[in-house]
Amino acid sequence: MVFVTTFAVMMEIETALIFEKNAIPQGTVAWQSPSNIALVKYWGKKEHQIPCNASVSFTLDKSVSKTTVHYTPSDSQAFQLAFYLDGERNEKFEKKISMFFQSILHLQPFLNQLSFTIHSSNTFPHSAGIASSASGMSALALCLCQIEQNHFQTLTNTDTFLRKASTLARLGSGSACRSVYGGLVVWGETSACPQSANKYAVPLTENVHPVFHDYCDTILIIDAGQKSVSSRAGHELMHTNPFAVSRFRQASENMEILLKAISGGDLDTFIRITESEALTLHAMMMTSEPSYMLMRPNTIQVIERIRAFRSETGIPVCFTLDAGPNVHTLYPAIHKKEVLSFIKNELIIYLYNSLMIEDGTGNGPKNLDV
Ligand code: PMV
Repeated sequence: MVFVTTFAVMMEIETALIFEKNAIPQGTVAWQSPSNIALVKYWGKKEHQIPCNASVSFTLDKSVSKTTVHYTPSDSQAFQLAFYLDGERNEKFEKKISMFFQSILHLQPFLNQLSFTIHSSNTFPHSAGIASSASGMSALALCLCQIEQNHFQTLTNTDTFLRKASTLARLGSGSACRSVYGGLVVWGETSACPQSANKYAVPLTENVHPVFHDYCDTILIIDAGQKSVSSRAGHELMHTNPFAVSRFRQASENMEILLKAISGGDLDTFIRITESEALTLHAMMMTSEPSYMLMRPNTIQVIERIRAFRSETGIPVCFTLDAGPNVHTLYPAIHKKEVLSFIKNELIIYLYNSLMIEDGTGNGPKNLDV
């Protein structure tokens, strides 16, 4: 008994979160959660998804995952699960979610008493090549917190609820922890944001200039194929990247500079840092061992056109990239008309099936009626 207690304390197991044997419940919960786009990038991690540097992102509005979790008592001593994407059973994601559940059992041991049927769908097209792990894992983490709250009432306080959801989401996919909040969100300890933490994200509620309240992000789909190297493998390669240490130092300096620019509405600095971060992320891929590239020729074409358009017109539009070839075009809402017409006239030829998503900063996840 002493050993069990000591073990539980060492593992920080939430022993209170276990159902009485004869009172294992059933029910259904559902959440929708958005994707996010990082400005200062998280690239490189330590054990337990602790980031090597702090990051900051915009939570998106229209690019969301909707997830419904139906649970019943498990007929074994461990959780069981079936996962459906757009109504079709998906074993690849089922394995991923199974690993995710394993990694959070110490935080929600009651999972092992349940059997889950999970249905998820994304509002953005499958073929868009947009990563759904941030929106998908955050929606799932919110559902699990909803189950905890419904049966144990441990997360009644909204801040506590969201913090736990962010902590769980981080263990599913690092960047997912930022999708739990709307607007600008910081993840990873940084002196630029005193309340920041490595285990969960925090929303940037103060010191945000109004220009960033409704910033636009038009996502230009350059290539919709599967990435040749996954983000998981990419993070791993940072352990041997010769530039890793300087990159982590640069990211921490960029956090200071960018958060100041966000507070003061300094768009020149915002653009300089955001674009440099995007290119540095891809430079890390190109300098990994083995090296690889996720940008496509049309990614470069679009980047060059955006820079030329900015210098010709003075309109503060810039780009950022995720770990893939697609280009996120970022600009203040007052320039929406001119930027959209520039995209439709000049950039459309570089896009896969003329595909783009007119998105922007959103308010974060929503609990759905079931
Ligand atoms: O959350 P992951 O493990 O898929 O890593 C994503 C990393 C980037 O999207 C490239 C950057 C970021 O901070 O979101």
